[in-house]
This record gives sequence, structure tokens and C-alpha cells, in this order.
Amino acid sequence: MKQERSIQLFEKAKTLMPGGVNSPVRAFRSVGGTPVFMKRGKGAVIIDEDDNEYVDYCCSWGPLILGHANDKVEKAIIDTVKNGASFGAPTALENQLAELIISNHKYIEKIRFVSSGTEAVMSALRLARGVTGKSKIIKFEGCYHGHVDSLLVKAGSGLVTFGESSSAGVPPAYANETIVLPLNDEEKVKSTLEKLHTEIAAIIIEPIPANNGLLLQSHKFLLHLRELCTQYNVLLIFDEVISGFRVGFEGAAGLYDIQPDIITFGKIIGGGMPVGAYAASAKIMSHVSPEGPVYQAGTLSGNPVAMASGIAQLTECLQPHFYQELQHKTDKLVNGIKQHVQSKGYEITIYNIGSIFWFTFSDMKHLTRADQIDSGKMTLFNKVYHYLLENGIYFGPSGYEVGFVSHAHSDAVIEKTIAILNSAFDKVFAEK
Ligand SMILES: Cc1ncc(COP(=O)(O)O)c(C=O)c1O
Repeated sequence: MKQERSIQLFEKAKTLMPGGVNSPVRAFRSVGGTPVFMKRGKGAVIIDEDDNEYVDYCCSWGPLILGHANDKVEKAIIDTVKNGASFGAPTALENQLAELIISNHKYIEKIRFVSSGTEAVMSALRLARGVTGKSKIIKFEGCYHGHVDSLLVKAGSGLVTFGESSSAGVPPAYANETIVLPLNDEEKVKSTLEKLHTEIAAIIIEPIPANNGLLLQSHKFLLHLRELCTQYNVLLIFDEVISGFRVGFEGAAGLYDIQPDIITFGKIIGGGMPVGAYAASAKIMSHVSPEGPVYQAGTLSGNPVAMASGIAQLTECLQPHFYQELQHKTDKLVNGIKQHVQSKGYEITIYNIGSIFWFTFSDMKHLTRADQIDSGKMTLFNKVYHYLLENGIYFGPSGYEVGFVSHAHSDAVIEKTIAILNSAFDKVFAEK
């Protein structure tokens, strides 16, 4: 595998940007080696600066549900940018995207567009605090909600762990506003709310936790969160930056039929352009400025080019059978590797929900909490990762990252992936 140009570009990048990247995981620190610099993508395939080709299961970390450079998305972006890139004044495109989403999503009535998932979460927390007049937030260990100060916290031990920041530069006072609990543990949520509900504004959860492996929660646990939030006047925030428009147009709210108080969106909503959003009932959203006292603004919010891209992509997601087809493709991939792994008796756990999938080296059938992931076995993932890369398959560069299947992944591409993944497993277990 040629790498000269990626190596050169990375050396240069390191002189210009911290770690040579604009988002840390891209630096390949987890899997080792040099990050691959990409120059082009079409459908399920991406091509790097050394002209190596890969089938892509990172899909820009989730946004590209139609694959790369989809013709309709590309046309919408080009047609729109010809009229100007930004006005800082309202455009009809904002109405169009808002209406497209709201009229097809029964769990929300009003939406506010921002420019990233982090911004969406940050704004949702402020809104929850503004509505309830309370300050503390419960989050779950293993859920990532962007680099919002008060959510960059890790859990310690004990029933209720007040956050300790996992990033320098976060004042302890901010981290102290966050309570971190283990996923899928009804009792801990209940006892925490019993004790502290007068201080807690919201519970935020990725209803399909997909940032620390894929830690699927029981429906019962999610329903329990809903009931407790209602009982204690605490808002339930579903962070659907990954799951929104991914496991169905109505995301996890629709899949589980649970009404959250606020939903955050990102990734797919912008068709690959920088868009995030938060949405809720008209009553809750009436607290947002200029209607209400919760201030939130953005120079590029609702940017017309980004809106056009989102409209084009979400219109495709609404086509009949779109999600069934995606599910079918992903089931094919997952079943193809599951059968091999089972027949060989390898200790690998593989599962998927909709078009999100994950495999990890474990003898547990189903992992629901972050502490169940065997970090010691990530060295095996790293070996698999490099074998895949050398054989033309690109995953997010960490064993904690999930994979995404796009509509552009054909049966042939999936069959090729199954064969390469299975031989990667054979190789790693033969060496063990
Ligand atoms: C669930 C979730 N929330 C929030 C974010 C932050 O989004 P962004 O990276 O667009 O700021 C992410 C990013 O991966 C995410 O997965």
C-alpha cells in the first residue's frame, strides 16, 4: 500500500495544526500509523492522496447515509451556492428543511438550526435549564455529546458520581453540574432523582449509544427514564446526532416510540454540510430567543447551502423502503461475518441496529455498559484495522467507533467486505 503522500501531508499538517488534525480521532493515535489523507469519494468508495481505494464504513462518522457525492445532494449544493454562500438573513430554504422534518417527525413541533452537533447539545442544555430553572444534568458513562464543557466528564465510582473533567480547561464548577451514571441501570437513575430532583434540569442520553461501541439499551430502561423525568419535572433530552434519520426518519424516538422533551440532531441532517439542530414541542421552543429568554444565535445558522444539502438528502431518506433497504444491506454484512465468527468459535461480538454496526473482541453476547468493553483487547482490533486498510476497507480509526452502511453500499461491495473482514479475523486469531 502506497502511503508516501499521506505521510508527507501529515508531516506538514503537524507543523500547522495540533496533532496535524482538526478533530483528534482522525490522528490515528488509537490504531497507530499515519492517517490516510482523502481526496475524493463517490458512492461507497473513497480514494486517498496516494490513489488507494477503500470501501468506506466511516461515512464521515455518520452523515453520509447516501454515500459520497450523491448526485442529488451535489446538485443541490452547487445550484444553491451559485446564488451566494450566506446572507445572515432568513431564506426560504430554512422553512423548507424545517417543514420537511417537522411534518415527517411526530415527536417535534418546532426546530432551531445550528452548525454542529455540539452546538445543538449545548443549546439544548441551556434550554432545559431555562425551562426548568434548575442546573444539574444527568449524563451516562459511555455517551458522547460533543465537546460541551459540562459534558466532557468521566465517571468515578459510587452511586452518584459528580463529574470530574476529562479535558483540561473545563472549570470544576462546570463539571460539578454534571452527574454521571452507568447506562441501563434503572435503580441508579431512580435513587439519584429521588435525592436530587430539585436540582436536576435534564437527563441527556444517546438513546442508541454509539460513541463507545454500540451499547444498545433495553426499551424498558428508556421507558423508565421517560416516566421518571415526567414524575420529577426533569426534561428528557434524546441526543440523536447519530441515531436521528439513521434508524428511521424519526430516529430512536420513533423506533422506541418514546416522546423526549428535546431532541438534538446533527450529521445526516446536513447531507455532509455542517448542520445541527435542536427541536421540541412549540411550548418548550417558545423559551428560545427571540420568543423567549433563552439566548442562542449563530452567524451561519440555517446557512442556505447547508439547508439545500439537508433537504436533498432527507428527501431521499423519505422515499419508500429507504430504511428497509439499508437494514437489509447491514443485516447481510453482519450475518456474513457472524456466521464465520461462530463457525470458527472466535470470541467476537457483532451486532447492529438499522445501518449502524459494531464488532468487538468479547465473549459477551450483548454489551450495554461502557465498563463491559475489554480495552485490553483493542490491540486485536488495531491489527484487524490495518489489515482492512491494506485490503481496501476503511473504518473509523478506533475499536470504540461504530460502522455505518450507506445506501450506496451495493451487494457486491458488501460481499467483498465480508470476505476481507473474515480473513482479517482468521489472520488475527491465527497469530494469537
Ligand atoms: C451523539 C452525539 N452528540 C453530539 C456530537 C457532536 O457533534 P459534532 O461533532 O457535530 O459537534 C456527536 C459527534 O459525534 C455525537 O455522536
